[in-house]
Amino acid sequence: MFKIAIIGAGNVGSALGKGWLSSGHQVVFGVRDPQSSKTQKALTIIPGAKVLSITDATKIADVIVITTPPEAILELLQHLGDITGKVVIDTTNSVRTRPEPFATAYHAIKEITNTEDVVKCFNSTGFENMLNPIYQGEGIDMFAAGNSKNAKQVAQQLAKDIGFATCYDFGGDDKVELLEKFALSWINLTILQGHGRNLAFKVVKRSSH
Ligand SMILES: NC(=O)c1ccc[n+]([C@@H]2O[C@H](COP(=O)([O-])OP(=O)(O)OC[C@H]3O[C@@H](n4cnc5c(N)ncnc54)[C@H](OP(=O)(O)O)[C@@H]3O)[C@@H](O)[C@H]2O)c1
Repeated sequence: MFKIAIIGAGNVGSALGKGWLSSGHQVVFGVRDPQSSKTQKALTIIPGAKVLSITDATKIADVIVITTPPEAILELLQHLGDITGKVVIDTTNSVRTRPEPFATAYHAIKEITNTEDVVKCFNSTGFENMLNPIYQGEGIDMFAAGNSKNAKQVAQQLAKDIGFATCYDFGGDDKVELLEKFALSWINLTILQGHGRNLAFKVVKRSSH
């Protein structure tokens, strides 16, 4: 069981929070405004969800999950306090905006905090698929990138806990931007090419036998 602070309570934050609460983890939302329409909507999706300030949520967590727009990370890092020893999961995609001068929120977190245990995960599919990762009775796949084995293992466990079949190791820090591009491929297919958001990636392998 992890103590998880989800920063942001929008589409992604509430989908992940709902799943992790149901699978027995301790979840608190760290938000800038408890009265915002997004926070209020999250509370209707997850009745009784615990909402704290960003600093207070982070303090009691061993896993911090960033579910804000990517550029917000620069401001957020001023409120997170000491995150030494905590795992940070970055779900953001620098699609329209990025935390200048950093390429992604992941890079900003690593460079500004010197924290090693960061992982990019839960960015490569839509929030509806995080709420329900089951297609025709089978779990879809998730992907995690970054150098920290520890952070990756935590993300892989948390992906499994909400119903993803396999959370593939997508590689190290050098594959973080590729994983964001992979997310863009999902956005391209679902939105730009019009196939709809009920679409997901699953890896298939030819049996070696
Ligand atoms: N939507 C998807 O299907 C999807 C899938 C994969 C990855 N992502 C990525 O996940 C992230 C969140 O997407 P979303 O669709 O969940 O967004 P969303 O529904 O708009 O929610 C964003 C959340 O971030 C908070 N926020 C915004 N700016 C902030 C700041 N400066 N400081 C603190 N909190 C701030 C918002 O708080 P307020 O309520 O106060 O505005 C809200 O709780 C994005 O980076 C996106 O690229 C999205």
